[in-house]
Amino acid sequence: MHDIGKVAIPDAVLLKKGMLTEQEFAEMQKHTTVGCDILRESKSSLLQLAAEIAGSHHERWDGQGYPFRLAGAAIPLSGRIVALADNFDALTTARPYKEAWSVERAVEHILGRAGTQFDPACVQAFERALPSIMRIMLENAEAPSLKDSSPEMPSDTEPAFARAKLMA
Ligand SMILES: [Fe+2]
Repeated sequence: MHDIGKVAIPDAVLLKKGMLTEQEFAEMQKHTTVGCDILRESKSSLLQLAAEIAGSHHERWDGQGYPFRLAGAAIPLSGRIVALADNFDALTTARPYKEAWSVERAVEHILGRAGTQFDPACVQAFERALPSIMRIMLENAEAPSLKDSSPEMPSDTEPAFARAKLMA
């Protein structure tokens, strides 16, 4: 639902396999404000929250995101959480323009962006939740890349790399 505004983005931009031009990227960025506008009209508190997320899930902790270049705590917490979750999902899922990353590679990517792209507190919470996230991913796994990325997964479903990080 956070990307509902993409209904207003032309397929030529949305499905493009190569790099977006500056103009195309500006067009793509509109999915945040369009999505927020679609959802904010509802009286439902759940959809009000969804509107907040749609409008803020591409902001960055360091203020280099969009659409408003908000920084730090000025970004709604819901948007900071979904920014991280959306990035993790995007990295570990195959897209028209890229292969799916292994979970381990995606986790390292996110940990390395605490304090720049992501709220450090959200990154810490993500790290603490990794065993649960991995369990849920395995229960719902369809992508071979997820299974391939953890060939030595112990039967208790706690990934070795996550266990090592939690013990560090
Ligand atoms: Fe988005």
